[in-house]
Amino acid sequence: MVLAMKITIVCVVLLFSSAYSDKETKCEEVMLHNKPHTNHVLSKGLNRPHQLAFDKHNQRLFFSHNVRRHDEEAFEIGYIEKDKMIPTIVQSVKNGYAIAMDNKDAIVYYGGSNGIYKQHLKEENDTVHEVVKVYNVWNMFFKNALYFIKYSLQQLYKLDEKNKTAEHQKYIHEKIYHFAIDGHNDMFITTDTGLFMIKNGTQERIAFTGPKNFLAIAINNEGVAYFGHNDGIYTANKSDHTLNIVANIKHVFGITFDSDDHIIYSDYHKIVKLLPGKCK
Ligand SMILES: *[C@@H]1O[C@H](CO)[C@@H](O)[C@H](O)[C@H]1NC(C)=O
Ligand SMILES: *[C@@H]1O[C@H](CO)[C@@H](O)[C@H](O)[C@H]1NC(C)=O
Ligand SMILES: *[C@@H]1O[C@H](CO)[C@@H](O)[C@H](O)[C@H]1NC(C)=O
Ligand SMILES: *[C@@H]1O[C@H](CO)[C@@H](O)[C@H](O)[C@H]1NC(C)=O
Repeated sequence: MVLAMKITIVCVVLLFSSAYSDKETKCEEVMLHNKPHTNHVLSKGLNRPHQLAFDKHNQRLFFSHNVRRHDEEAFEIGYIEKDKMIPTIVQSVKNGYAIAMDNKDAIVYYGGSNGIYKQHLKEENDTVHEVVKVYNVWNMFFKNALYFIKYSLQQLYKLDEKNKTAEHQKYIHEKIYHFAIDGHNDMFITTDTGLFMIKNGTQERIAFTGPKNFLAIAINNEGVAYFGHNDGIYTANKSDHTLNIVANIKHVFGITFDSDDHIIYSDYHKIVKLLPGKCK
């Protein structure tokens, strides 16, 4: 189903700039972890924004979205500046699909159909540098190193930046769609059969009972993994291997967290930040 997302032809959505900038959105209450939160729309009028990543240096929210051109599936990476709804597009990445953020070293990585690129976030107007070519990138994750999933074999690779090479991570032998490492260095993978955890230093795949077909995995600032699904946002109970729904929101394509650990998610057309509190 996730695979179908990238290859299926989807409806064209007309992008009027007025659609982005309409700030007249009603306050909506959403329960997150059983506490009321309000809905702050960061951008809208987008086509399936996903792979959200937050740049803590410039307070920018990066995302990828679908920009179908002339019957051909295409993707594009953009970012939203603080308090601006109209995104800026990262022009130099062809078919930009995947994003990963290294907030410690202030580097953003972009993955597209022609390889991986990076850009320094502290240097104003830094150009986009090519890192490795050839790979068609499906998804990326950064923790101490850049991990990426190669399309369409869905294999995990780890980037060796000094050598400008990438090494196939053979210990992940299954076809995967998402990969993340949490604050305890435990790995999460999604496969055609569901969500699995591989505990640090072990090989065993621990299956989680509950929903399958996750659309996103993100780790919050405290190291806790969150999972985006068609039915809502989930967290994993690592003691009894069950999934707990923490917010009932439809079609969660992407998740990330800002500097204050507020959750930001995307659905079919918009990107939303949830802030604690009730509507006035
Ligand atoms: C960066 O780019 C912006 C927009 O093009 C420009 O206004 C600004 O002067 C540039 N800054 C530097 C340091 O070049
Ligand atoms: C570069 O790759 C080679 C071959 O895989 C490896 O032996 C070497 O340690 C790598 N060098 C660095 C600096 O990582
Ligand atoms: C856990 O992961 C870290 C980082 O990958 C590693 O340095 C450490 O040795 C691991 N611990 C075990 C018990 O495998
Ligand atoms: C996780 O599962 C254990 C064992 O069933 C339970 O005691 C604990 O309350 C659960 N934690 C959460 C956050 O639901």
